[in-house]
Amino acid sequence: MPLHRLRSVTIGLPCVDAACAFYADFGLVQSRPGRFETCDGGEQLCIESASQRRLIALSVGVDDCDDLGRAETALARLGITARRGERDLDAVDPATGVRARLVIEPRRTQKPAPVLATNAPGRTQRIDARSAAVLEGHAPRPRRISHVVVGSADAAASRRFFVEGLGFRVSDEVPAIGASFLRCSTDHHNLLVQPAPVPFVHHTAWEMDDVDAVGRAAAVMVAADPSRHVWGIGRHGIGSNYFWYLRDPAGNFCEYTSDLDVVVDDEVWKVSASAAAHPLAAWGPPVPASFLAPEDVVALARGG
Ligand SMILES: [Fe+2]
Repeated sequence: MPLHRLRSVTIGLPCVDAACAFYADFGLVQSRPGRFETCDGGEQLCIESASQRRLIALSVGVDDCDDLGRAETALARLGITARRGERDLDAVDPATGVRARLVIEPRRTQKPAPVLATNAPGRTQRIDARSAAVLEGHAPRPRRISHVVVGSADAAASRRFFVEGLGFRVSDEVPAIGASFLRCSTDHHNLLVQPAPVPFVHHTAWEMDDVDAVGRAAAVMVAADPSRHVWGIGRHGIGSNYFWYLRDPAGNFCEYTSDLDVVVDDEVWKVSASAAAHPLAAWGPPVPASFLAPEDVVALARGG
């Protein structure tokens, strides 16, 4: 697959200072005003001033010029003109207004997360020792961005733009609601497009080492401000990932996540969201209504 990683997302929102303080607490490091780094991914979040919260742009790593050429041709077939540079390509999804940028860059490898010794029935790995999960005092930090979820007024057109135009792969679909889980790497999903009356960011998700890191980081955030809590801790059915969702000051949800499915071979992976016994959550607290239908989306659709 020529696309190899989600490099970054740019989010527009009205309350830049409050959002920047939130994402610093969240564990991202502000490298310059409005730009945030993860441990492994470099600058992966850009926050810009906008009248309404929305995804302004996303950036994807590709291998070489041929990948840019293929995308340029495919986009032209959809009637979309791309701006082509020597090492990058820009195009705008007509349905959401999101600017997608493909950039030639080397593939990255991550330092492996430590494996915690665990005990289970018939399998004792940790003897005469406390778990490292209870010894660490600091809040763990996100390793990299995992995915972004956007609402689109024409989800089918957005899917065409990203899949047929840019070369994203489809990992799972939920036909009943018109949602598509798309990837630009081996992660099960880097982008989820779902129908909405107005383009908006449903959530960004940030990869943590493991479920303990998800729980510990979110617990610190919620202890500092209980109103940040949205939904978790639980495990999704589609993607299999652990989750705990918080809310930023602009109303965007942001997820600590770990253990997302990895898809390497399209011949082996079966696209079937219904394969999971419970697609939304294998387990976890009841899903809040505001997670499925964020309260401000109707107002956003009205323009304020
Ligand atoms: Fe997510």
